[in-house]
Amino acid sequence: MAAIRVASTSFTIRASTSSSSSFSSSCYNFCPSVFTKFGFGLSYAATPLSFSRGKRMAHSITRAALGLTEPKKIDPPKISFSAKEIDLVEWKGDILAVGVTEKDMEKDENLAFKNVILQKLDLHLGGLLSEASSEEDFTGKAGQSTVLRLAGVGLKRVGLIGLGAASARTAYRSLGESVAAAAKTSQASSVGITLASSDGIAAELKPSTASAIATGAILGMFDDNRFKSESKKPALESIDIIGLGTGPEIEKKLKYAKDVCSGIILGKELVNAPANVLTPGVLAEEATRIASEHNDVFTAKILDVEQCKELKMGSYLAVAAASSHPPHFIHLCYKPPGGTIRKKLALVGKGLTFDCGGYNIKTGPGCMIELMKFDMGGSAAVLGAAKALGQIKPDGVEVHFIVAACENMISGSGMRPGDILTASNGKTIEVNNTDAEGRLTLADALIYACNQGAEKIVDLATLTGACIVALGPSIAGVFTTNDDLAEEVFRASENGGEKLWRLPLEETYWESMKSGVADMVNTGGREGGAITAALFLKQFVDEKVQWMHIDMAGPVWNGKKKSATGFGVSTLVEWVLNNSS
Ligand code: BES
Ligand code: MN
Ligand code: ZN
Repeated sequence: MAAIRVASTSFTIRASTSSSSSFSSSCYNFCPSVFTKFGFGLSYAATPLSFSRGKRMAHSITRAALGLTEPKKIDPPKISFSAKEIDLVEWKGDILAVGVTEKDMEKDENLAFKNVILQKLDLHLGGLLSEASSEEDFTGKAGQSTVLRLAGVGLKRVGLIGLGAASARTAYRSLGESVAAAAKTSQASSVGITLASSDGIAAELKPSTASAIATGAILGMFDDNRFKSESKKPALESIDIIGLGTGPEIEKKLKYAKDVCSGIILGKELVNAPANVLTPGVLAEEATRIASEHNDVFTAKILDVEQCKELKMGSYLAVAAASSHPPHFIHLCYKPPGGTIRKKLALVGKGLTFDCGGYNIKTGPGCMIELMKFDMGGSAAVLGAAKALGQIKPDGVEVHFIVAACENMISGSGMRPGDILTASNGKTIEVNNTDAEGRLTLADALIYACNQGAEKIVDLATLTGACIVALGPSIAGVFTTNDDLAEEVFRASENGGEKLWRLPLEETYWESMKSGVADMVNTGGREGGAITAALFLKQFVDEKVQWMHIDMAGPVWNGKKKSATGFGVSTLVEWVLNNSS
């Protein structure tokens, strides 16, 4: 493929003052003086990207977001973690939180704790813990917690947090979340967290227990307040994790937790940002920013409409056609610092910054049109993973992060139902429903990923309502013909607790995707809608490539919290690391 020139108009990097070590992104700092600069430390020279360095045009992206909304710049919360082995009664700070199982809460006939740690702490606090827990009927069930105000012991508050019967990984993450909730209510700045029966945890599991607690605490402390006119700054500065060991192993796990959380938080921020703020161009800027913050390992390439036309991406461009916000095809490439590459991976994310359905407009109750800003959740997972991996810098893997970003709108220049499109591999598609647009953008993105020489490709997309009908709101559907890849990704999903369920690529269902005039149609009716969508994508992937499609239409969004989940980031990061050496 000929070297791709990045048109000067399609590539804008906002000046960023944020340090790359901060573990929370502060997205969309829309300062009015947008600063455009080429060669922002990105290592262009070593890439196929040729860059018109001569032209240093000072121009800026239009900032006048519809509705005049400017996200507030919120300083990333910086919580420092330390793993400590100290006597609990000596710990001083704002909240000492103790994770307790139901067994830990057992008391003897004198109503004293049987658990030695609780016994000792209770004695130190003059029997307060045993008394309060009996009065409040606190038994250590999961979800229970009690926080008591103290005076005169160098400790402002003590909390008991229920872990339930068995202490699973999810319980440790919830422990971190409960502590964060308590820290927010009491504006605590220093917190200590321990387990009443940390002795019972095998030494090799202690570091991952600590990192699960840390993950819960970091994510629990995060509230996306960028679009609220008033919000409190969280006071929490330090968390001591007590009794789970010290040393390099736990330090490494804690750093990993922080890195992954920074990616998850970025993913949430991208999804939460509304479509009048997060346009395809802004998404591309965010991607470029990730690359520039880790320019030792990343190169960034953003293709504009003309460049996508040159690559014959007719399927993707048709979806983008109606919008007044032009499409931006995003390609970040991670190369390890060591240089040796043993595996080439690609992560492809659906990046519809808004999906109104097009001429097959989303109407009626339950169509969720007002939530369709989340239709770039796949790309948020991919870019969140890029951010985390830029900090972790795994060896031995090359990773391509690919997003065909655009907006599905309606206008005189838009794609019509019945149009026939030609994708970049020459296959033709009759559009029988303009609302099945995600697969049209992914078709060209998957072809592009194959052309990068990726051996394994995972795509993530909020692709079908049918997948939500099949698996409900918190489980993603997984499609692959490769059992090894399925095994790898399922294993990667365990750590972060992301729920996946494999569904079949039933070839006989392809029947419904046949067109009278083109190679295929883009939708096959209501039945098995998640499966026919996956079969459609399969048409655009080289057979020799190991490929997986994850339909995350359900888990992208938490309906109760009315907020993004950051789904996908932790599984992707873990999967890439398991593929590194
Ligand atoms: N982005 C939607 C899928 C979606 C719907 C995600 C609801 C989350 C919640 C996708 O572009 C879409 O509209 N899919 C159609 C496909 C249909 C026309 C075959 C759908 O699911 O209704
Ligand atoms: Mn749609
Ligand atoms: Zn969509």
